[in-house]
Amino acid sequence: MKVATIGSGYVGLVTAASLAHMGHAVWAVDIDDGKIAELQAGRIPIYEPGLDQLIAANVQDGRLTFSTEVVEGIREADIVFITVGTPSDENGSADLSSVKAVAKTIASGLDRYKIIVNKSTVPVGSTVLVARVIQENLKTAHQFDVVSNPEFLREGSAVADAMHPDRIVVGVTSERAAQAIAALREKLQDIPEAGFAAFTALHEPDYWLRTTPDQQVRHAHMITDAGAGAGNEAFVTDVSAHAFEGVTEISIFTPTHPRLLAMIAGACTSGGANIVGAQITTTRDGHALDIIRLAREFDRSEDEERRAERIAGAIRALMEGKFKIDDIMKNRPKPKESLKVFSVEPQVVIDNNLSDALTVIEINCLDRPGLLYDLTREIADAKLDIASAHIATFGEKVVDVFYVTDLAANKVTNEARQTAIRKRLHRVLAAGYGG
Ligand SMILES: NC(=O)c1ccc[n+]([C@@H]2O[C@H](COP(=O)([O-])OP(=O)(O)OC[C@H]3O[C@@H](n4cnc5c(N)ncnc54)[C@H](O)[C@@H]3O)[C@@H](O)[C@H]2O)c1
Repeated sequence: MKVATIGSGYVGLVTAASLAHMGHAVWAVDIDDGKIAELQAGRIPIYEPGLDQLIAANVQDGRLTFSTEVVEGIREADIVFITVGTPSDENGSADLSSVKAVAKTIASGLDRYKIIVNKSTVPVGSTVLVARVIQENLKTAHQFDVVSNPEFLREGSAVADAMHPDRIVVGVTSERAAQAIAALREKLQDIPEAGFAAFTALHEPDYWLRTTPDQQVRHAHMITDAGAGAGNEAFVTDVSAHAFEGVTEISIFTPTHPRLLAMIAGACTSGGANIVGAQITTTRDGHALDIIRLAREFDRSEDEERRAERIAGAIRALMEGKFKIDDIMKNRPKPKESLKVFSVEPQVVIDNNLSDALTVIEINCLDRPGLLYDLTREIADAKLDIASAHIATFGEKVVDVFYVTDLAANKVTNEARQTAIRKRLHRVLAAGYGG
């Protein structure tokens, strides 16, 4: 991911260095010209065991940049950490003037959705304060979220504390999501605190409720180990075979692409894999995080995982434009004859009441090879963006739910357009069964 730390004191430097060490692209910025000049010259203004080597290695590898261009640093980043000082006054209350100043600066650098993580030590209510200051100074309509992640490092062992914290606090707004995050942290002692905070900040609360703890652990490693998101072209996958359930799962984290789901479905179909379930989500920083469940084909899990890796490779090649989806779909398997005798009346329902921001398209029909590819290609051809989707099969039947918008990110409210979309999808459903 692309990260900025605003304030290059103790906390900022340690956070920036440990995030860069994990593979993220980090801009460490500060308004203190003298401090940044020292850092650019390779001199570290504080002594912390291990910090100088960590900084030198990551500067050399191009993952860590020091700058006084605070707004530019904010523009570069998907996640912005506030790490400025909050000295106590004589009554013991924290001076929030630097935090407020940074919030104002963030407003002027907010050129797309960003996650703001506050690591400075602040009193209760400061997350709302930061959000309010940003909102009041914002000149664009871009969205943002503020997450609270107070720092507990101790001077003298700051690097070790950041890499292996004895506690971590992340402020979020859903109780069940908070419990899931706390449980996940127990299992993920090996991911440094700042990286863990960045991972948790990516997800809407429902991610924590819709994924299993095992999936969350695998996703955290998939995304943080690879430093995914550091470049726009990042594409990372994780495969795991589940013998007991008879499915093999592929998780994919990649920048969103209007035809991503069609590419995924096409690569699975052309590889002879049958999709029995899928969960498609968009993270807060605009990546797709998709979980695809394939029916198991082989007895041995190693063979299954190799097959899944091959399919993941085909999806990547499609994303990179190495070949075209139409080329690989020429060899798609034909539907089984026996499917035609089933009489399940296909249904396409378009609903605007289920979500504030998205139009829901629900499709109930008989399953067949390549169905998801045909539907998602049609949805893309109808100039709709899929923000999330839930695909489930029940024996021969399938229920596909797509949460979509038009290309301007609006709901589809025009009745004539809804009718046209329904017609297109019914045509796809009829075609596959020789109807
Ligand atoms: N140092 C610790 O051991 C420690 C431990 C836990 C928590 N904290 C908390 O973390 C926060 C940061 O502490 P620190 O010790 O790193 O502070 P610090 O004073 O060492 O560094 C703060 C940096 O922020 C910069 N800054 C101030 N205003 C700025 C602005 N508007 N834009 C950009 N940069 C700006 C300053 O120039 C300075 O370099 C504080 O809230 C502190 O209470 C510190």
